[in-house]
Amino acid sequence: MNPIQKPQGPRLNRRTFLAGTAALAATPGFAHAETIPRLVARPASARILPAEYPETPIWGFDGEVPGPLLRLKQGERLMRTLVNELPQPTSVHWHGVRVPNAMDGVPGMTQDAVAPGDQFDYAFTPPDAGTFWYHSHNQSTEQIARGLYGLLIVDEAEPPEVDHDIAVVLDDWRLRENGEIVDDFDRMHDWTHAGRIGNYVQASLLPRVSQLRRHDRVRLRLVNVAVDRIMKIGLHGLSGALVALDGMPLQTPEHTDHVILGPAQRADFIVDVTADEGDEALIAIHEREEAFVLADLHVSGGGSSSARGAINPLPSNPLVPLETAQATTEARLIMEGGAMGGLRQGIWKGERLSIQQLVEQGQVWTFNGVAGLPEAPLVEVAVGDIVEIPMQNDTAFPHAIHLHGHHFQERLADGALGPLRDTLLMDRGETRSIVFRADNPGDWLLHCHMLSHQKAGMKTWIRVAA
Ligand code: C2O
Ligand code: CU
Repeated sequence: MNPIQKPQGPRLNRRTFLAGTAALAATPGFAHAETIPRLVARPASARILPAEYPETPIWGFDGEVPGPLLRLKQGERLMRTLVNELPQPTSVHWHGVRVPNAMDGVPGMTQDAVAPGDQFDYAFTPPDAGTFWYHSHNQSTEQIARGLYGLLIVDEAEPPEVDHDIAVVLDDWRLRENGEIVDDFDRMHDWTHAGRIGNYVQASLLPRVSQLRRHDRVRLRLVNVAVDRIMKIGLHGLSGALVALDGMPLQTPEHTDHVILGPAQRADFIVDVTADEGDEALIAIHEREEAFVLADLHVSGGGSSSARGAINPLPSNPLVPLETAQATTEARLIMEGGAMGGLRQGIWKGERLSIQQLVEQGQVWTFNGVAGLPEAPLVEVAVGDIVEIPMQNDTAFPHAIHLHGHHFQERLADGALGPLRDTLLMDRGETRSIVFRADNPGDWLLHCHMLSHQKAGMKTWIRVAA
């Protein structure tokens, strides 16, 4: 595998989108017309690698990667008609947003996949402010690896005061020197191990900022959109606190300069520029003993002359963390399979198969002994029930467990509940437990967001009966 190379920063032309948004906003009465803005999934070409390499053929929303940054005020409605101009069926999942079930974008569960040439209307009002993202939820191992994702930012009614609000979209590409995406999306070796790990980690900054002033206060929204790579991200010359995880505010900001993000996880930081004038503020990925710079921001003078005051918690969302919780329903989840996992057999489509037969079906991971989506839900509960899912990772790999339609909290060793999250990164061998109030009716996926693992079996679902 090639070492991760230092990317040259994002070079997407976002002018088209910005012009489009301004035009819409400037046309009063337009909102009353039945015109829903389109979100077109289509092949395009984008500059991912440095200029000396060719551009990369991608699949992107509106032909861009990341797709258009969708930004709303809290309480505002999002409407988009997905238009599929891809050679494959697709859909959009609004990751981390507590949407009504029919808007969740899961083919075979909440809607049919949108066939090439077809379209689908998404409309909902995100209840919570924060950093979210949207992505294809069909053949997602391939479609997200090809670029079908974008950010959805919901602004607080009163956002914290900062000089810059920058989204940092972190992706992991597997590219050839000719710029092409390596199209080996079905590699069993990836599926049975840590997934499709690329050779080029890229941070796209939205908006594209290359310069900061000393003492500037900056909100950074880090989003790991990689199909499988876990990223340890460090901030250098920037000092402050983690203020939100997976879109949800922390009750107490945590002073730190790094965060580990599993696939799909997000972290919001508020930081002050502490690098000296003439120096650089850096965002880096740390792997083993090495660090690779993903973004370098030149620091100039001219900012405020002294350091800023304390970093306050973000305003709380309609969804507030549970303080304590006595679960009314408990459902265990045991993860098995993968390389070095010792799985001997499993259920697949209702039949008991040997490991050899499972491998022939491309199924190598199980939840509670079942590979792929089971017929019956992991648990069926009533709206309002408190659900606890103790999870045991009996595999040799980490997993990023994502629940649709809800945020959950981890039950910590002392019985207290951790911060709200929508994806929990579990290391190998770990046993951890999540708790949530099932307040969103419908059928919801629970799966590993390492998409290779999801594809190769790691998924189940829960039913919240209205
Ligand atoms: Cu990011 Cu099943 O989703
Ligand atoms: Cu996994």
